[in-house]
Amino acid sequence: MSSELAKLKEESLKFREFYQPEFFRLSIKDDKIKFDELIKPGLVFVFDEISDQLKELIKSRHPSSRFEADDYAKLIDKHLAGVDIDDYGVWVYYPWSKRIVHILDEEEFIELRTSANKHKITTAERNILAGKKVGVIGLSVGQSVSVTMAMERSCGELRLADFDTLELNNLNRIRTGVHNLGLLKAYSVAREIAELDPFFKVVCYTDGITDENIDDFFLRGGKLDAVIDECDGVNIKILCRIKARELNVPVLMEASDRGTLDIERFDLEPDRPIMHGWLQHLNIDLDILKNLKTNAEKLPYMLPIAGLETLSSRMKASMIEMQVTLTTWPQLATAVTLGGAVTADTCRRIFLNQYAGSGRFFIDMEALVPDDRRKEHFEPKATVEITEQEMKEISGKALGILSKASYSPSTEQISDIVAAAIKAPSASNSQPWKWYYREGYLFLFYSDTGIVSFGDFEMMASDIAFGAAIENAALAAHAMGLDFNVDAAPVETPKVLVAVIRFDKKSTDNGLYRPDELVNYIGERVTNRNTGSGKAISKDIFNDLKDAVRSVAEVDLIIKDHPDELAQLANIVGPAERLKLLNPSSHYEFYNKELRWEEDNLSFDGVSIKTLGISQAEEIGLKMVKDPQAANLLAEWSGGQALEYTARKSIASSSGFGLITMSDFISMQNIVGGRAMQRMWLTATKNKISIQPLMAPLLYFARLRAGGNGMPDFMKKELEKLYERFCKLFPEAEERESVFLFRMGLSETPVMKSLRKPIGHVFMHY
Ligand SMILES: Cc1cc2nc3c(=O)[nH]c(=O)nc-3n(C[C@H](O)[C@H](O)[C@H](O)COP(=O)(O)O)c2cc1C
Repeated sequence: MSSELAKLKEESLKFREFYQPEFFRLSIKDDKIKFDELIKPGLVFVFDEISDQLKELIKSRHPSSRFEADDYAKLIDKHLAGVDIDDYGVWVYYPWSKRIVHILDEEEFIELRTSANKHKITTAERNILAGKKVGVIGLSVGQSVSVTMAMERSCGELRLADFDTLELNNLNRIRTGVHNLGLLKAYSVAREIAELDPFFKVVCYTDGITDENIDDFFLRGGKLDAVIDECDGVNIKILCRIKARELNVPVLMEASDRGTLDIERFDLEPDRPIMHGWLQHLNIDLDILKNLKTNAEKLPYMLPIAGLETLSSRMKASMIEMQVTLTTWPQLATAVTLGGAVTADTCRRIFLNQYAGSGRFFIDMEALVPDDRRKEHFEPKATVEITEQEMKEISGKALGILSKASYSPSTEQISDIVAAAIKAPSASNSQPWKWYYREGYLFLFYSDTGIVSFGDFEMMASDIAFGAAIENAALAAHAMGLDFNVDAAPVETPKVLVAVIRFDKKSTDNGLYRPDELVNYIGERVTNRNTGSGKAISKDIFNDLKDAVRSVAEVDLIIKDHPDELAQLANIVGPAERLKLLNPSSHYEFYNKELRWEEDNLSFDGVSIKTLGISQAEEIGLKMVKDPQAANLLAEWSGGQALEYTARKSIASSSGFGLITMSDFISMQNIVGGRAMQRMWLTATKNKISIQPLMAPLLYFARLRAGGNGMPDFMKKELEKLYERFCKLFPEAEERESVFLFRMGLSETPVMKSLRKPIGHVFMHY
């Protein structure tokens, strides 16, 4: 770099310190001397439009008069009353731009500059507003509010607090020039105001708001009449509200998303809890607040303030992309401009006693100026659960074909058997079963709860659950000394009557066959979604699990536990879980049928958020994507990678994973596979090994391989890739059908167990 350039740069940097103009009234001797010195080197730009201003002033004072050009010369002369026009008014020097501008002096300047406000703002109102002091914290939306208020003169003093300097990526929403990069935001705003109205009082707090200066900010030079909070720091947000409440100062905040405006009238409601009471469940200890460092620590405070549910879809989708494809919250110039107007307008009305409310409001352009063209919404198909009458009719038909039962256990015994059966796992805890006991036969019916439908291609998921329930029932029957036999439905009732179970007295007491001891683990078995320790599981246990599966004919279990294989698995399950949330039909099912947010679950089915073993941040992610429009946007952007996090994290913490396979074309294939799965799961429970099914890939592959009906193209395309990965990971499974994929490990017991419908809802007898 040349030394001239370096010197010029250094010189120019000095101008960063200036934000206040200098005034020269040439009728004052001292001013005149200084002014002459200033202009002597000829290094300034001079702008003199004073006579036009005088002409305008005269015109504005005589609105009903029609003056000719000659009249103005005379009227201006009269107005000057002998003062030389150069000495009239004031010369204002802006050191940062080396500009000198000749303007009317304060009173006339303000009168003329605000003359077009009348009578939206009357002169009397203008005079009230001139006495108002406003503190602005944070200068993105804050810049827009400040400049708008100064322009309108809806207050007489602005105290601007921001420690930040301007960066290029601020210029999408902060109106300023590139020459101001690196300049303190507070100075940039102060300069902008000074350029449009040099008489406007601006005080800059370039450390932002701190413990040390907050009293000064609120009180020095007179108590603030309103605070505009536009800062990012959660502790400052709370701190300034506590102070505002203490001093009865109203607080306004605009969130530049959906035109969200918060108003807290601590001036009128001194006992009003801060932030509308949404933080009342939290510890508002300032020492704790000051030390909030991580996002996880700040989130509990930020969430109620941000109001997750009411964010725009684009904001929610963008939040999911934070730290993946985005580094900062999106904020648009339109939103910031609107925010400036909305806040300034409300603040003025508060000052003029034209508004007395508090609360959160939305000036949501998309809602106010809506796009009425029909959008495609996912329409779920109607589901109807099977009725007792239907079970009676179908079982009656079946009994016409079946021979008389050789042994009929009591209804109490059957009730106990069904009670064990329904403790079985089912996809999304859909419990797709109903049981009907009649004339010695126990009929198992499919009952469509609508909880799993997209993921239940050709009833794969339900059949596995039926298999698991049948296995539980068999174990319970054996424990009662009963023989247990399952047959496929004897009547043409496809997909409704699943199986018919016969009982017998055990002919010989040949001791329990191997898995029978598993009956003791039916109640203990649970889906464990917690992260594990990653510690190795012994080969003996793996062999135990394999034996359990292989005790059912034609079924096999492949187990893998190498870290590379776990990583490969995560690259299949993670994306499949993301697709589950981004595909409209599985999204609908997950949020409307499967997931239970509340502890209370009156339907006793579905999966409670509490059983998912996820962190608060992951839960927030799920909440963001609950909005179908946000999910659609993520799909459109090929985004949402953060939604893979939960699966990836839990797989990485696992000790291994398994795949249950079957030889092809076996009757009741998945039901048989489900029985083997349940034997494996109960064996794992016995060995204190935690199990979590990872079924999204298998269930979606089944649909994909049959043509992908109901799948959007983006999903099909990605699943094809995932299927290739899957075949690479499990080459052994190529010639067989994959039934059940799961991870296993050593994890803490879940805090909560999934509920089951009471037996009276699912078991009936003739
Ligand atoms: C066929 C099938 C598929 C399942 N898929 C998953 C899965 O992909 N992810 C998961 O976390 N749990 C899965 N589960 C577990 C169920 O959600 C769980 O069994 C149900 O909520 C009842 O809870 P419980 O197993 O603790 O009794 C699946 C269970 C079955 C039977």
